[in-house]
Amino acid sequence: MAKKVLFISSSLRNRSNSEAFAREAEKGAKAAGHETEFITLKDKDIRFCKGCMACQKTFRCVIKDDVADVMERVQNADVLVFATPVYYYELAGQLKTLLDRLNPLYPQEYSFRDVYLITASAEAGENVVKTPVGGINGWIDCFEKARFAGVFNGGGFDNMGEALEDAEMLAAAFEFGKGIQ
Ligand SMILES: Cc1cc2nc3c(=O)[nH]c(=O)nc-3n(C[C@H](O)[C@H](O)[C@H](O)COP(=O)(O)O)c2cc1C
Repeated sequence: MAKKVLFISSSLRNRSNSEAFAREAEKGAKAAGHETEFITLKDKDIRFCKGCMACQKTFRCVIKDDVADVMERVQNADVLVFATPVYYYELAGQLKTLLDRLNPLYPQEYSFRDVYLITASAEAGENVVKTPVGGINGWIDCFEKARFAGVFNGGGFDNMGEALEDAEMLAAAFEFGKGIQ
């Protein structure tokens, strides 16, 4: 069944590796017949959650920045794909900040079910994505109807644009996106 798949790329770097994988995965998702949308946090003003909890009653955030628009797209997507560089064996702070700011969704209805993660990191191997996968699962655990659907581990990429040179990994990212159901 065709779904609305929202990609959110959180690297702020030009020629980002995780974004390169996410863009290929988007092409794969399109090839699988899904409707896709791609957001990058590069051009977004996203401030820290203050923890005031007003949103739990008003369903809105007191901070007026670009999050409201992103949040509406997150709420209405069927599938979410977050892309992040690995920073100190964790999700990048800018993605974590966005996840925190999505707190107004916690008491509301939402469409998303499957949630995927795409990473890029200098080091390769399972270990490097362990905590980022844990981080995204911490968020998913609070949305009962959602589930963690898989990770694309883009390990072994450090310099800017390196992923763009690796046809094999880009093809693997395409297949990852094509596998979205
Ligand atoms: C602040 C910072 C922390 C990093 N921490 C890690 C790390 O813990 N493990 C790792 O393998 N790479 C680490 N890296 C390297 C990046 O994950 C790597 O360069 C990646 O390709 C960046 O993805 P991007 O191009 O999508 O931003 C770090 C880079 C930065 C800037």
